Amino acid sequence: MIRPKNDKEIEGMREAGALANAVLLDVAKIIQPSISTREIDEYAARRIEEYGGKSAFLGYRGYPCYTCISVNEEVVHGISGGRIVQFGDIISLDVGVVYNGFIGDNALTVAAGGCDVEVQTLMDVTEKSLYEGISKAVAGNRVVDISRAIQKHVEANGFSVVREFVGHGVGRKMHEEPQIPNFVDGGPSPKLKAGMTIAIEPMVNMGSPDVQVQPDGWTVITRDGKPSAHFEHTVLVTEGEPEILTCATRMHSKVEASS
Ligand code: MF3
Ligand code: CO
Repeated sequence: MIRPKNDKEIEGMREAGALANAVLLDVAKIIQPSISTREIDEYAARRIEEYGGKSAFLGYRGYPCYTCISVNEEVVHGISGGRIVQFGDIISLDVGVVYNGFIGDNALTVAAGGCDVEVQTLMDVTEKSLYEGISKAVAGNRVVDISRAIQKHVEANGFSVVREFVGHGVGRKMHEEPQIPNFVDGGPSPKLKAGMTIAIEPMVNMGSPDVQVQPDGWTVITRDGKPSAHFEHTVLVTEGEPEILTCATRMHSKVEASS
């Protein structure tokens, strides 16, 4: 059974979401050629702390970093280290934070300096597919309506969706029911109810959908070595317009109001 969240819990999710997005947008700004992925992760750790949150990823099943930083053919769960970002690389940043016991989870992909037009299109299509999915996060729909919208947009543009990793319910725990696949799997699909909070996160490959996990036990890469993009928001299902919870505007307006 998937229990929708009450008003107080939803308020907690809004605050966690705002923090997660504020960090994500701050980190995106420092991406440029010659920075190392470790420096990116360290900066993210600092911003999370400065906003008063904690990383939701560090220590999760032994995960060793504050954020996931996945470069080019790395799909998700990239482990940061000495890799130096090159002009034309695309970097997926995935930031999950805990604040007052609630989790906000979001991701985006950006190019370092600039990138090939085809790679830019991959990122644009992935981001648009996220919003296509979010538009279906309405009470009365089923999870599969989100999945179908994402898959349709991706495949209409000649790219492919990753099967092995999916979106998820999120709340006090990072991974709650239901799973949110980015493709139609043909299985039973839960009904969406107002008050459910879900992380929708299409992972889209330029070439084949096949992925494999690196020997580090975490980093997921494309089998064909072609690039992959990833965008994610935490979303509140309502009777009407879905509400994007990973939205920094809320936190920035709060900071301004108190200064
Ligand atoms: N956004 C990813 C997810 O929801 C982040 C998890 S990474 C981990 O699965 F390191 F924490 F596992
Ligand atoms: Co997630």
